[in-house]
Amino acid sequence: MKNILVTGGAGYIGSHMVYSLIKNGYIPTVIDSFKTSSRKNISTIEKLLNVKINVIEHDLTKPLTQPLKDIKLPKFEAVVHFAALKSVGESVVNPNDYYFNNINSTINVINLMRELEIPKIVFSSTAAVYGNPDSDIVDEDTSTNPISPYGKSKLFCENIIKDATLAYGIKGVILRYFNVCGNLESGEIGNLQTNAENLFSVVIMSHLRLINKDIVVFGNDYKTRDGSGIRDYIHVSDLVDAHLKAFNSDLKDNFSIFNLGTGNGISVLEVINKFEEVTHEKLNYSIGARREGDIAISTTNNSKAKDYLNWEPHYSLEEMISSMWKWYKKYYNNK
Ligand code: WQD
Repeated sequence: MKNILVTGGAGYIGSHMVYSLIKNGYIPTVIDSFKTSSRKNISTIEKLLNVKINVIEHDLTKPLTQPLKDIKLPKFEAVVHFAALKSVGESVVNPNDYYFNNINSTINVINLMRELEIPKIVFSSTAAVYGNPDSDIVDEDTSTNPISPYGKSKLFCENIIKDATLAYGIKGVILRYFNVCGNLESGEIGNLQTNAENLFSVVIMSHLRLINKDIVVFGNDYKTRDGSGIRDYIHVSDLVDAHLKAFNSDLKDNFSIFNLGTGNGISVLEVINKFEEVTHEKLNYSIGARREGDIAISTTNNSKAKDYLNWEPHYSLEEMISSMWKWYKKYYNNK
């Protein structure tokens, strides 16, 4: 059995990773501070899969060596590093928090890899590293020029990992996520944060009145087919599948970067219309001004991930919406 260390394993994407690892015969060990995540995701997975998950409660901005001294750890095949602050808007207001948190935790994870001789890191990065690219469809060779402190902190971490692969003989795989959404099909684990900013969460949480915020389409005057912004939405289960492939593939290079998206652009108004169709609910929304920092279109060419990782996204927009709708309704009922 292969042991995998998962930082941020109780969060939205991390918990889906942990679920998928166990389903695929791996043994995950989770490190999480539980500051922006909840033990509930872990206990739900334990119940669903009838397992006990190893969890280390630790704030990764502090070195890991000391708290781990007394814990007997297995030999890890890889670390998947999700733990990070991830709100673009918050990072503009509080840049120091983002640099301090995201960069220190990456350095500490690499030091732990050196100490425990963990050979590979799969790093959770973002399309935000591209900033405002010249082309509507980016690929891994598109130049990086992040705008927000969040995007800049992630690019900094990518470079820290790149240097570590050169200096310490470890392998690094950087996965740049486009717009992640959806939940486990049964809707049992997910995002437990209440400060919704992303389109899917805002639409559902606002409609269920889980947040006191109306649905506003940020601009309908972009040069797109219906005037609203276009993004490349990818289902979280497809996304975690690419991580499994990333530490399983025998990649030639010690350092590689992959963009993860479906390659299909979907507009805000298309998301709203599909939501009404899938859930048979009528949404109240209005058209507002553009949001500062937004670009018209952000999609990726995903052929590198397909070719090198032998990965293929499978989930449709309907499935992204219906699974997320299930999750938030459960969350609502449990509140
Ligand atoms: C999507 C579209 C908005 C909210 C961010 C990060 C990116 C990645 C994913 C982490 C845009 C529109 C949104 C609303 C709206 N995160 N919108 N009304 O900004 O594409 O990407 O999250 O790595 O790095 O930058 O995602 O979901 O906020 O917006 O009209 O209330 O929905 O203008 O066109 P974004 P988003």
